[in-house]
Amino acid sequence: MSSSSTILSSVLLLSLFVFTLLTPSEGNFYQNFDITWGGDQRAKILNGGQLLTLSLDKDSGSGFRSKNEYLFGRIDMQIKLVPGNSAGTVTTYYLSSEGPNHDEIDFEFLGNLSGDPYILHTNVYSQGKGNREQQFYLWFDPTIAFHTYSIVWNRLRIIFMVDKIPIRVFNNMESMGVPFPSNQPMRIYSSLWNADDWATRGGLVKTDWTHAPFTASYRNFNANACIWSSSQSSCASKSTNSLQTNAWQDQTLEAAGRNRIRWVQNKYMVYNYCTDFKRFPQGLPPECKRSRFL
Ligand SMILES: *[C@@H]1O[C@H](CO)[C@@H](O)[C@H](O)[C@H]1NC(C)=O
Repeated sequence: MSSSSTILSSVLLLSLFVFTLLTPSEGNFYQNFDITWGGDQRAKILNGGQLLTLSLDKDSGSGFRSKNEYLFGRIDMQIKLVPGNSAGTVTTYYLSSEGPNHDEIDFEFLGNLSGDPYILHTNVYSQGKGNREQQFYLWFDPTIAFHTYSIVWNRLRIIFMVDKIPIRVFNNMESMGVPFPSNQPMRIYSSLWNADDWATRGGLVKTDWTHAPFTASYRNFNANACIWSSSQSSCASKSTNSLQTNAWQDQTLEAAGRNRIRWVQNKYMVYNYCTDFKRFPQGLPPECKRSRFL
């Protein structure tokens, strides 16, 4: 073997080694998700599985869902939302079980005209019943860069987080007769669709199709969660990142978290069902009576 080919093969070996190090299978979209709506034209997995994009045009939106079902865990996803004039578009990102009495934990991003703020809409369904909306403005423009949207779901509570800042907590109050998502495994779903009949200013602003296709991007998915296996009727706690602990299992809000959620709720909350007395003339739902974030 000549020395140049020895050098060449060691360079090849080295680059193969580096490549393996840099492209972990963890968080890979090919391995973790299926495109379920919109076809390959609109939903694309790129960069060897590291990036996923959804798009919406006049004919259809698009969407994906996780291959696995999870029962408790912490799920993180980085999302960059539709830029520019996104009025009328809605990007959903949520956990949901199946069947008539389903459970669901929702993030929905309601687009807006250029320069006007998105609304982050959240909801929790348990045993098929939702009506627990809280809405927020964000403290950054979610279309310029990727931001991390997380759901922590354990037996005691659900915590919604944006860039690790808790924005909402839904406590388990089964003892007070409030159903809590605690026994139906859920998949992760996301979609980009047209909702200009209601999304932006209650449907007043219509989608401007001259700007189509609209595109949202996803990366760095991480599930530190129990993967449900129906054959074993159980779930194995598994992290896609071996360096992580299972801190989510009893995650709560420490003092710092309570300060931050207070900051978000005071400054950025747009709507809270728990203060909508008109909507609940017979009295607020029981979970609203307890302090907001203990
Ligand atoms: C869009 O911008 C308007 C004006 O700033 C604001 O009132 C509204 O809440 C924003 N979001 C949506 C989804 O309409």
